[in-house]
Amino acid sequence: MTLLPELDEAARVILERIPAPPRVGVVLGSGLGGWGDELAELVKVPYADIPGMPRPAVAGHPGFLCAGRVGDVQVACLQGRAHVYEGHPLAKVVFGVRVLARLGCRAVLLTNAAGGINPGFAAGDLMLLTDHLNLMGANPLVGPNDEALGKRFPDMTYAHDPRLLELAKTAASDAGVALREGVYAALLGPTYETPAEIRMLRTLGADAVGMSTVPEIIALRHMGVPAAAISCVTNLAAGLTKRELDHKEVEETAREARARFTALLSAWVRRVGADVAAG
Ligand code: 6GU
Repeated sequence: MTLLPELDEAARVILERIPAPPRVGVVLGSGLGGWGDELAELVKVPYADIPGMPRPAVAGHPGFLCAGRVGDVQVACLQGRAHVYEGHPLAKVVFGVRVLARLGCRAVLLTNAAGGINPGFAAGDLMLLTDHLNLMGANPLVGPNDEALGKRFPDMTYAHDPRLLELAKTAASDAGVALREGVYAALLGPTYETPAEIRMLRTLGADAVGMSTVPEIIALRHMGVPAAAISCVTNLAAGLTKRELDHKEVEETAREARARFTALLSAWVRRVGADVAAG
């Protein structure tokens, strides 16, 4: 059994509606979806029109594939993602990035909203994920291995692609945007963590915490597609602040960070686009 025919059917439907196949894929996190609407020659394909694509349920996660250009780089971007905590099976959560791979993307850049754990972080900081902790209690590759997509036991040493990390740092300097680096812990959610859990995560080496991205990184690694991710630290995690956490605050901070985030992501896409075209 392979998912390949389903992925290729979804890709076929998308390719019929967009002017050129994408070379770089992007996934936009909570409150960060606006970037997709600013692509040149934008074409939006509702997830509802893409067979097999799950529909995200959270407010602030719209549910469109946006295709277009950044400079000369053809991009396909997922505006809104399905989360494990919504009850989607892991295979559905990673369906969209697998479709990006089948569309021909040579690299996929992921973004998310995350809570800051590193005491040096402030709300609004942007963090490049140098590595992650998968604490979701789940993995999208559980079950019989889909040999057509990749191997049974993928190595994760370079799950966050070193070349893409280097290009992200170059892009941050291009855009004049400060970019922190750190380890992202992925938890199931939908509750935010307790202060004790945050102390535990800090001890384990996490700098930020969230509820996404890691399944997609794993699925892309399995398929051999280079991937890397940036978090917008929308709030400090529990116990680092006396205030209670609220999804509205997460979305508001993401919006405030939007100008920096947009500049960085566009610069990253340009650098990655030039790199995949050259190599
Ligand atoms: Cl504090 N925790 C988790 N799990 N996800 C988040 C967050 C915190 N802040 C934004 N997203």
